[in-house]
Amino acid sequence: MTRLLILGGTTEASALARAVAATEIAAIFSYAGRTECPVTQPLPTRVGGFGGVDGLAAYLRDERVTHVIDATHPFAAQMSRNAVEACAGTGVQLCALERPAWMAGPGDDWYHVPDITGAVTALPDDPARVFLAIGKQTLAPFAAKPQHHYLLRLVDPPDGALPLPDAHAVIARGPFSEAGDRALMRDHRISHVVAKNAGGAGAAAKLQAARALGLPVILIDRPTVPPRPVRATVAEVMGWIADHPARLGE
Ligand SMILES: NC(=O)c1ccc[n+]([C@@H]2O[C@H](COP(=O)([O-])OP(=O)(O)OC[C@H]3O[C@@H](n4cnc5c(N)ncnc54)[C@H](OP(=O)(O)O)[C@@H]3O)[C@@H](O)[C@H]2O)c1
Repeated sequence: MTRLLILGGTTEASALARAVAATEIAAIFSYAGRTECPVTQPLPTRVGGFGGVDGLAAYLRDERVTHVIDATHPFAAQMSRNAVEACAGTGVQLCALERPAWMAGPGDDWYHVPDITGAVTALPDDPARVFLAIGKQTLAPFAAKPQHHYLLRLVDPPDGALPLPDAHAVIARGPFSEAGDRALMRDHRISHVVAKNAGGAGAAAKLQAARALGLPVILIDRPTVPPRPVRATVAEVMGWIADHPARLGE
């Protein structure tokens, strides 16, 4: 019998949960527990880390999981690596739901950098007004360029002092619109945008707004994850599940 574990934390994971809930498939949804009020899912939900590869492998065995769908954010690389290793070790089938990376189009002024350090280096030396659209977890390295004003967009209010001397946080949860992001950037007189190449529609608004305003974007490349089956849409993942019945003996 199929028993699915969805590793979530993205808009796409929530869409997959809705699709799975409309079927007879038994499934569990997993959150890391990073946000205070995560979106309620139509599936039994657990919250918190598993305890590395070994903890996840033990969980898969204990819960008799037959399939894992890794629908985490493309930058949640540790979870994705753990899933590859734990599924290989337990014989559980694994597929990733991963949105394609964004590609520059006409009018885009993008500077690709390999990681956060590269993004810090790519910022100018003269004071700038930077929309740092990268979440809350990797802000500290930007303290190396304290001359800039940083606009942050966070899901929850910061629970302590921000690690940047000149920063303003707006609290908002996506998906966002191009018009809204254009107004935000105009109101805050933004001169540079820093973003992760997350892909997807709802998070692309800042790139469309930057294009409309003629602003440069420093775009951080995705971290690498070991090879695994990848599908780009919920429908394709549902097809993958149908094509990969639980292995014999499960
Ligand atoms: N990184 C981003 O830019 C970003 C953006 C939007 C949303 N998110 C979401 O935020 C969550 C955390 O992202 P991250 O970048 O901190 O991940 P990460 O660095 O890859 O993961 C660190 C640890 O957090 C735990 N974890 C991550 N995702 C989990 C999940 N869905 N269920 C249970 N445990 C999970 C695992 O702990 P154990 O080793 O103890 O199992 C993992 O080893 C993910 O659900 C991701 O989809 C991340």
